Amino acid sequence: MSEFQDAYMRIEGGGSIRGVAAELQIPYSTLRDNYARWKEDNSGSLVIDHVPKKEQSLDDILAEKRSATQRMYDHMRAIKRIKVRVPVETGQAYGLLMFGDPHLDTNGCDFVRLEEDLGLLGNGVFGLNIGDITNNWVGRLVAQYANQKTTRSEAMQLMEWFIKRDGWLAHIAGNHDLWNYGTEVLAQLVKGQNVIFAENSCARLALVGGGVTCRIHARHEFKGNSQYNTAFGSVKAAYFGDDDHILVMGHKHVSGETAVYHDKTEVLSRCIALGTYKVFDPYAETGGFRKSNYAPSMLAIVQPQRQNQNGFVRIFDDPQEGNDYLQFLRK
Ligand SMILES: [Fe+2]
Repeated sequence: MSEFQDAYMRIEGGGSIRGVAAELQIPYSTLRDNYARWKEDNSGSLVIDHVPKKEQSLDDILAEKRSATQRMYDHMRAIKRIKVRVPVETGQAYGLLMFGDPHLDTNGCDFVRLEEDLGLLGNGVFGLNIGDITNNWVGRLVAQYANQKTTRSEAMQLMEWFIKRDGWLAHIAGNHDLWNYGTEVLAQLVKGQNVIFAENSCARLALVGGGVTCRIHARHEFKGNSQYNTAFGSVKAAYFGDDDHILVMGHKHVSGETAVYHDKTEVLSRCIALGTYKVFDPYAETGGFRKSNYAPSMLAIVQPQRQNQNGFVRIFDDPQEGNDYLQFLRK
């Protein structure tokens, strides 16, 4: 029974709330509010308390879907062509050092060449990694860890060492990088760095610097094969209209280079297949694959003074030699 039951009965019997409150020495507002609740509870109607739902309401679901759609379109528009402002003076040449598939934890990785190349970053040389940083074996391929000396945790250390340095412009995700939550791992490693991580395995860039714009289309793999041209995937993209100044891919572990001229736009596209730092590959040996891994990396030199000429972009399959030329230009 309520502590105010006597008061309620007096009010029901015709007494005023204020009068009964004074008689029983109950604060007026306390009695008024309690009486109102008591009346509601005892109205004689079937009343069930409202239970809030744990699911989102349809309105909230739709609002969230609309907002996600907007985010998706904003993202898609932004990655069509990412503008990168390269810190060089007007007319000054710069280099884009393109790293083929590193496969850092593979037994046959050429660390001498890799460290030489990494040492070139800086001094007007920017890095682009085409993907497959480690083997990151997945599924039945996990058995391959039995055939490599580097453990999975050592591979993670190598990956961090490779990524966390100055001079990178972009990392393109390779198919190996994407296995085993690789996207999330790489996203964490590049967090806070001023670098592009292309989780879709492709990036189209507009390098703006030196007073000119150099367009890059980088993909871990361009579709298309030819037994006559190791760079055919990127060549095919150029044939079908991609008139970027550089089209570069990795993935197949073969090097190649072909120039394609676009007569309508008068752009010369340098179509490049990068080899791999995995210079010893028992799988390729056993399979009898034709060897064409002559350049694990290539250095593209952008020469603003040569805009609209063949020499706007020069490709060096020997980055050290290319860098000597670049530093001579930058004097
Ligand atoms: Fe690869």
